[in-house]
Amino acid sequence: MSDLIYLDNAATAFPKPPVVIDTMAGFYRDYGVNPGRSGYDLAVEAGLMLDGARRLLDRFFNNPAQDFNRVCFALNASAALNMIIQGVCHPGDHVVSTTLEHNSVLRPLYEMEQAGIITHDLVGCDGDGFVDPQDIAAAIRPETRLVIVNHGSNVLGTIQDAAAIGAVCREKGVLYALDVAQTAGMIPVDMAAWNVDLLAFTGHKSLMGPTGTGGMVVGPDVPIRSTRWGGTGVKSAVRTHLDYFPYVGEVGTANTVGIAGLKRGVEWVEEQGLDAIRKHEMDLTRKLIEGLREIPEVKLYCDGWDDRYLPVVCANVEGFESMQTGEILDVEHDIATRIGLHCAPLAHAEIGTTPKGTVRFSVGPFNTAEHIEAAVAGMADVASMRRVS
Ligand SMILES: Cc1ncc(COP(=O)(O)O)c(C=O)c1O
Repeated sequence: MSDLIYLDNAATAFPKPPVVIDTMAGFYRDYGVNPGRSGYDLAVEAGLMLDGARRLLDRFFNNPAQDFNRVCFALNASAALNMIIQGVCHPGDHVVSTTLEHNSVLRPLYEMEQAGIITHDLVGCDGDGFVDPQDIAAAIRPETRLVIVNHGSNVLGTIQDAAAIGAVCREKGVLYALDVAQTAGMIPVDMAAWNVDLLAFTGHKSLMGPTGTGGMVVGPDVPIRSTRWGGTGVKSAVRTHLDYFPYVGEVGTANTVGIAGLKRGVEWVEEQGLDAIRKHEMDLTRKLIEGLREIPEVKLYCDGWDDRYLPVVCANVEGFESMQTGEILDVEHDIATRIGLHCAPLAHAEIGTTPKGTVRFSVGPFNTAEHIEAAVAGMADVASMRRVS
């Protein structure tokens, strides 16, 4: 590996634990066949791996349904969020969401509104980046079908009070979907305690799986229909797509090699312990914030490192666009960050950083104190260029 200092873990975790890569290679070498389509030994073994991954995730997210088939795999969180929004909403329905959503929620909402199918309202956040559950309650109307919320902002790093929002949804009798793309594998996610009906997760971030993995977890008594139709490997004579789990949410051959890696990634996270990983990442985040605060030209957004934050820090250097800062960090210092609007334009509007966005540092389990010192030095270097010019 090069000397690259990777601080873009909110985009995708890198590197992955070596056991994940070894597991994927081993799966493909030893039993990488199509599961569930046949009764021969290798197919059964591949099917057992898939079931094992579903069981693991069902438990990991504490789905009150306790039915591992209600874990439906998808390509990523975006695909799962599309399935959720399109799968539960009917013509005339209203959806409540927030300004902190990723485009993987905003765009389906806009598209469906433009097609005349649904209407929606977006609830804003306070100056610290937190959504007030009572604002969500106030936005719910008689025709509201779904509340869909980003659990952890990939821009502000703020974690929303998922339990309080869940209590509002339960009281109002609306479906509650939570996007845990940024929080799964970082903090415990508890569907049962928080009254979450539908969860969208991605595999390639803090769950430490490969890209091309993710999915939705569906709670008990949630009416959801298929939004794509095709092969399921079973009941081939049935003319329409199967209406029971996991087939409701799955079509075609599964990404078995990816799911084998995801399963090992989740096991790795459990072996390390969520608390230990989080402490490591938040200690480094605190070091990063404290270092950046020492540089007068650096402006930080929603900086915090207590329980309510992810290891995500957005910053800008006075006089530089985020693109320029990111380029200097990359070219001069070999530091990988993410620049721009991070697929969440309204979150940037909340902090006044549209249209140019910010530089985002996001810490992962393999980062070290030296990486953070290099990042602070890199930002100090950018700031010093401003002083010279
Ligand atoms: C909050 C949030 N939701 C959804 C997504 C989409 O995830 P994926 O790239 O797996 O589709 C991301 C990705 O960055 C995200 O941060």
